[in-house]
Amino acid sequence: MDTLSNSTPHYSLGYSAEFIGFLRGLAEREFRYVSPYLEPGMRVLDVGCGPGFLSVLLAQGQLLGIDIEPTQVEIARATGQRSGCDNASFQLADAVDLPSEDDQYDLVHAGGLLLHLPDTARALGEMHRVLRPGGTIVCRELLPDAVFVHPDRRQLLKRGLQIFTDLVAADDGHPHIALALKPSLRRAGFDEIELTASFDVYDTPKRIDVFATLIERWFLGGDLGRWAQSYGAASDDLLAEVSRELGAWRRNPDALAGLAVATAAATKS
Ligand SMILES: C[S@@+](CC[C@H](N)C(=O)[O-])C[C@H]1O[C@@H](n2cnc3c(N)ncnc32)[C@H](O)[C@@H]1O
Repeated sequence: MDTLSNSTPHYSLGYSAEFIGFLRGLAEREFRYVSPYLEPGMRVLDVGCGPGFLSVLLAQGQLLGIDIEPTQVEIARATGQRSGCDNASFQLADAVDLPSEDDQYDLVHAGGLLLHLPDTARALGEMHRVLRPGGTIVCRELLPDAVFVHPDRRQLLKRGLQIFTDLVAADDGHPHIALALKPSLRRAGFDEIELTASFDVYDTPKRIDVFATLIERWFLGGDLGRWAQSYGAASDDLLAEVSRELGAWRRNPDALAGLAVATAAATKS
């Protein structure tokens, strides 16, 4: 498969099997927040589609999913085939240079993408260009300051989250883009901007196990931890301390965590 010059040279989340598995588990829940804007037959563009688990749910008319990473495009094509979805196609492309004519789509979706982009204004400008007049953009982004973890002795798990936001910032991303979605969309030319926020809550032993295993393997003991160390965003000792706290948290019968996510929807007039 071809490669591209890449406007996201450092993608903070990596492409580990653990994180791809997490996205698979998230897709149905994410779909609930986008589905109010979907209608049968809509032409949909999913920007930063990743492995395509959510894209195939959004493909109720024709869907194009694009991603900057060749492995994700391949996985997304396999996801489409496995789910018998013949109205979705996937293409290697950069969010700042979309491979579509002007005014093509009824709905443009970007989930968990904007926080990684060095140039969010250019990407939103592209999304505005390819959306038809009257079409809708839906963006979903993490709200790091509203995430809760309980119990969190010595605020160690919050410090783990700070390591993550420092890493995204070091990678030229915008970890707090969720708070700036309103002005960013307005400046890109969108109007009728609506924002809502929700929590993906980890409460049952099974969900807590999934969440803690992801953080342990993918973040603290995986690529992200190593990258954070290389940027000076975390020391070995801090990662080990957060990991010990995570171990205590997951064994606590009262454990609870909520990932806060903002959804912004807006219109091109
Ligand atoms: C967190 S994943 C989200 C995947 C999918 N939207 C979902 O919700 O399951 C973000 C994706 O954005 C892609 N990405 C990052 N920078 C990009 C860019 N400049 N253009 C297109 N895709 C990009 C990454 O490769 C990754 O697959």
